[in-house]
Amino acid sequence: MSVNKEFSKYAHKYQQLNQIQAEVARKLITSLTRTGHPACKPKKILDLGCGSGAIYNLIDWEIEKFVGVDFSSNMLSLHPKAQNVTCKLGDFNDTKLFEELREEQFDYIISASALQWADNVQRVFSDIAKFDLPFSLAIFSAGTFATLNKTAGLSSIIPSYEILKEFAQNALHVDVSIEKLSYSLEFENTREMLRYIKRSGVSGGRNLLTYKQTKKLMDEYPLRYLEFEVVYINSFSKA
Ligand SMILES: C[S@@+](CC[C@H](N)C(=O)[O-])C[C@H]1O[C@@H](n2cnc3c(N)ncnc32)[C@H](O)[C@@H]1O
Repeated sequence: MSVNKEFSKYAHKYQQLNQIQAEVARKLITSLTRTGHPACKPKKILDLGCGSGAIYNLIDWEIEKFVGVDFSSNMLSLHPKAQNVTCKLGDFNDTKLFEELREEQFDYIISASALQWADNVQRVFSDIAKFDLPFSLAIFSAGTFATLNKTAGLSSIIPSYEILKEFAQNALHVDVSIEKLSYSLEFENTREMLRYIKRSGVSGGRNLLTYKQTKKLMDEYPLRYLEFEVVYINSFSKA
C-alpha cells in the first residue's frame, strides 16, 4: 500500500491513534512561541503534510492566513476550515507544488511528522530553502521502531538522524538548530503494539511484516513499548 493510501485509509482514526505525533506538534509550536523571537507568532503559515490539523489546532494567536498541504484528501477533509485557511491537495515530492506556493506570501513554514515520507528529503529541504523564510520541521528518523526492526530483521525505511543532519546542513543554507528526541509508547502486549502499527499509518504503507516475521516479533520482542525518534530542525535566522 502506498503512503497516501495508508494515510487515507486510516485518516478517521488518526487523531485517536497518534499520541506521539500530537506531542511532536505541541513541541514544535511551544518551542516556536517560547523563543520570544519576532517570528515566534507568525501570521502567514505554510504547513507541509498538515494532516487533520494538529498544527492549526495549536495556534492560539491571531493569524491572517494558514495554508495546509497534504496529499491525502481524507486527511484534509478532517482539517479545520475557516475563511483564512486553505487546505491544499498537493504532494511535497512535487517541485511544481513549491513553485506555486512561492507565488504566495508566507512568513513561516512548519512541518510536523510528515517529511520522513519524502522520496528525497534533501530536495524538499532545497525547495523549502528557496522561500528564504524561517521554518520549524519535525521529522521522524530511523531510531523509530529500532528494536522492532532489529528483532524482525528489517531495516528502517525512513532517514537517519545523521542523514537528516547532513541534508539540513547542505540544503537549508542557514544556520539551523538540530535536536534529536526519543519517545516511547507503552502497550499491554506485542499484539496490541502490532495492531497500533497497522492502524496508525506509521508504517508508511510498507506491508510491514510477513507471517514469519510477525511470529518472531510475538515471541522475541523484548520491550513493552515502541520507540520513536524525532529530529527537530529550526531556523529563526531569516525573520
Ligand atoms: C503523521 S501525519 C502528520 C500530520 C500532521 N502534520 C500532524 O502533526 O498530526 C503525516 C501526514 O503527511 C502526509 N504526507 C505524507 N507524504 C506526503 C506527501 N508526499 N505530500 C503531502 N503530504 C504527505 C500524510 O498524508 C499525513 O497526513
